[in-house]
Amino acid sequence: HPKKLLRAIVEDGDHLTKLSEQHIYSADQFDRDTLLQLFRLAAKYEANPDRFTTSLNGQILISAFYEPSTRTRLSFESAWHRLGGDIMSITDRSTTGIAKGESLRDVAEMFNNYGDCVVLRDSKGESVREMMEALRIPIINAGNGTDEHPTQAMADLYTIFKWRPDLVSDEPGKPLNLVLVGFPAKMRTVRSLLKLLCYFPEVFSKVTVVNDKKKNQMFEAGQLEHLEEFGLNVQTADDLYDVLPEADVVYINAISWEGNSFKQYGKSYHLDADSPLKSDAIILHPLARGEELSTSLDNTPHNWYFSQARGAVFLRMALLTCLVKRAERVLDVI
Ligand code: CP
Repeated sequence: HPKKLLRAIVEDGDHLTKLSEQHIYSADQFDRDTLLQLFRLAAKYEANPDRFTTSLNGQILISAFYEPSTRTRLSFESAWHRLGGDIMSITDRSTTGIAKGESLRDVAEMFNNYGDCVVLRDSKGESVREMMEALRIPIINAGNGTDEHPTQAMADLYTIFKWRPDLVSDEPGKPLNLVLVGFPAKMRTVRSLLKLLCYFPEVFSKVTVVNDKKKNQMFEAGQLEHLEEFGLNVQTADDLYDVLPEADVVYINAISWEGNSFKQYGKSYHLDADSPLKSDAIILHPLARGEELSTSLDNTPHNWYFSQARGAVFLRMALLTCLVKRAERVLDVI
C-alpha cells in the first residue's frame, strides 16, 4: 500500500522545503499540496522500513509530554531514532522547574540551548503558543488539551490514502462516505481531522458526525460553518446503526482530555465484529480504545486502526525531517 500511494502522488519537493524550521501547532496551517508531499515522503519511508537514515545525526529532540501518551510519544521518539537523532525525554512536569513556578517561556528559552526540535503534549490548550513565543527551534503540538492534535489527523488521512491511493491520483474512484463518531467541540483528534478533511472536499461525498448531543452542542461556535465553507458535506446523526451500513470509513473516538483528567463520551456507541458494516469498510481509531471498539474486530479486514498507529511513525519521520533539515537534503538521503 505505501508503494501504491508513492506512485499516485507526483513529487514536488518545493512544498516540503517550506516546512523547514516551522512550528506545527494546528491543522489549519497546512494546504493540500504540502500534505500530499508529506504523505508521499511518509510512504517512501514506510516502503523501506528497515532502511534507517542518518539525516538527523547529531540533532537532539526534546520530547516533553506533560500528559499521558503511548502512541504519540513513542512514535515520535521511534521516528527520531530511525532518523539517527538523539532524544531527551520529559514525562512528568513535576521533575522540571515548572513545579517551582517556572514559566513556560523560560523553559522554552532553555530548550533553545539544549535541543533542535521540541514535541510537546500538554493538557493546557495555550501551552504550545506560550512556548512558541520564546522558541527559536521548531515545536510540534502533540495534543494540547481539547484543542488540536494535528499530527494524529495527518496520520489518519495518510491511512485513508494508503487504503485508497486512487483518491489522490489522476483517476480518482468513488468518493468516500465517512462516519465519524466523536465530539468535535471537545475532542482534539476529531477537531484536527475535520480541519484536514477541508483540504480534500472532493474525496468525501459525505461526513456524518455521530453524537448523542444536539447539533448545536456537538460543534463549537463557527466550527460547522467553517467546514461547510470549504465545501464539506457535513451531516449529523445520533443513531450509529442508522448510518453505519453505508459507511466506507468509520472513525471512532470516545476519549477527551479535559483539564486534568479524561472524560469518556459516547458510551452508547459500540463497534464489534457483528456491527452492520459494509464488507469493505475500514475502521480508524486514534486509540487508546475503550468499550466503543471491541477486540473482536482486531482480526477482521475492518481493522485499519493498527495500521494507522504504525503509519504514524513514518508520517512523523517525514514531518520531522522537513522541519529540522532542509527537505531537499533529506530527499537526497532516502
Ligand atoms: N492517538 C494518541 O494521541 O494516542 P496517545 O494518547 O497514546 O499518544
